Amino acid sequence: MTETLPTAPALIVDLGDRSYPIYIGAGLLDQPELILRHVAAEHLVIVTNTTVSPLYGEALQARLGEFKLTDLVVLPDGEAYKSLDTLNTIFDALIETRADRQVTLIALGGGVIGDITGFAAACYQRGVPFIQIPTTLLSQVDSSVGGKTGVNHPRAKNMIGAFYQPRCVVADIDTLNTLPDRELSAGLAEIIKYGLLWDVDFLDWIEANLPKLRARDPAALHHAITRSCAIKADIVNQDEREGGLRALLNLGHTFGHAIEAGMGYGSWLHGEAVGAGMCMAADLSHRMGWLNAADLARVQRIVTAAGLPTRSPSALPLDTLRQLMDSDKKVQNGKLRLVLLHGLGTAVVTDKATEADLLATLRSTQATA
Ligand code: NAD
Ligand code: GLY
Repeated sequence: MTETLPTAPALIVDLGDRSYPIYIGAGLLDQPELILRHVAAEHLVIVTNTTVSPLYGEALQARLGEFKLTDLVVLPDGEAYKSLDTLNTIFDALIETRADRQVTLIALGGGVIGDITGFAAACYQRGVPFIQIPTTLLSQVDSSVGGKTGVNHPRAKNMIGAFYQPRCVVADIDTLNTLPDRELSAGLAEIIKYGLLWDVDFLDWIEANLPKLRARDPAALHHAITRSCAIKADIVNQDEREGGLRALLNLGHTFGHAIEAGMGYGSWLHGEAVGAGMCMAADLSHRMGWLNAADLARVQRIVTAAGLPTRSPSALPLDTLRQLMDSDKKVQNGKLRLVLLHGLGTAVVTDKATEADLLATLRSTQATA
């Protein structure tokens, strides 16, 4: 489905001289001028993976190639490749194609490609421009916006990286038509996250529209992506480098990142781990008297209805899960800080959870074998 080019962006991330537009709509990949208006360079390098390249990468290379020298770098697919080794293969390719400081990188794919390409752009020749073209629901609502880039350490998610903003974000909703159902659900986790931490009216809307979202209704997807990006942009505009407020966007992530690392990257999808992690955060919030039983049950119901797990995997020993949580980037002076809920729609970063409550949550939210 193709609609006319939106000449105006849906949103602007407002960061002074690093401000940039977010375009959201159908058929945007058929409009190379939309991308080219944010490119001063004569040389483009699209970074994508083995799954996305045949779907969209080769076609985009051909379209942009009519205007600029356009190279395509195709990485292996998977969270396990969001690593320093893969980063090096991007640098190898850039040097191979004689990319100079004027090159613009284009990240075409999900959050893995966006994060690693952004980090490559931040590092290559001490920084070259890059563009985000997110092709998963998760990357369209979250990872392509806000400038967090990086790779995983084997024992800690996203531990090595940089804040580095793209020149624009182009979210073509049509690309979601080829996304597997499991990946669509993973994206819903981050959409639910925004409702839980920031906007209870949006949470109501999500709850009512989950069937439409899972059926890929274009209008529902458009609204969910636009509202999610607006909330994220609002938060990033106020706290780009996570001095405080931005940490709220990590609701469920301290638990979730530990699940991802503990199970081996790629075994649980990031969004699945965040889904379970939000239920674990809600359980702990309930134990601390901050969330009532009805709201805890509602969180679990919404996460389930999105097709996501609500419990940590039985295969991950609780002492390992607990230890991995200590590798979280929010740890300060050795003290674990968690994002918890003070009712639905309001989140706080706190170090007030007792070890006893935390362990009780870990025990009660683990799946039975
Ligand atoms: P992903 O990048 O692994 O993509 C999921 C799968 O979908 C992959 O197999 C990919 O090849 C495939 N795919 C991508 N687009 C497709 C399409 N249109 N059709 C068919 N298949 C397609 O995973 P993700 O969920 O997009 O992103 C998760 C990553 O994002 C994690 O590494 C997470 O840490 C990161 N993340 C970063 C931020 C941030 O602010 N930078 C925020 C949230 C998540
Ligand atoms: N996804 C968390 C953040 O961007 O801050």
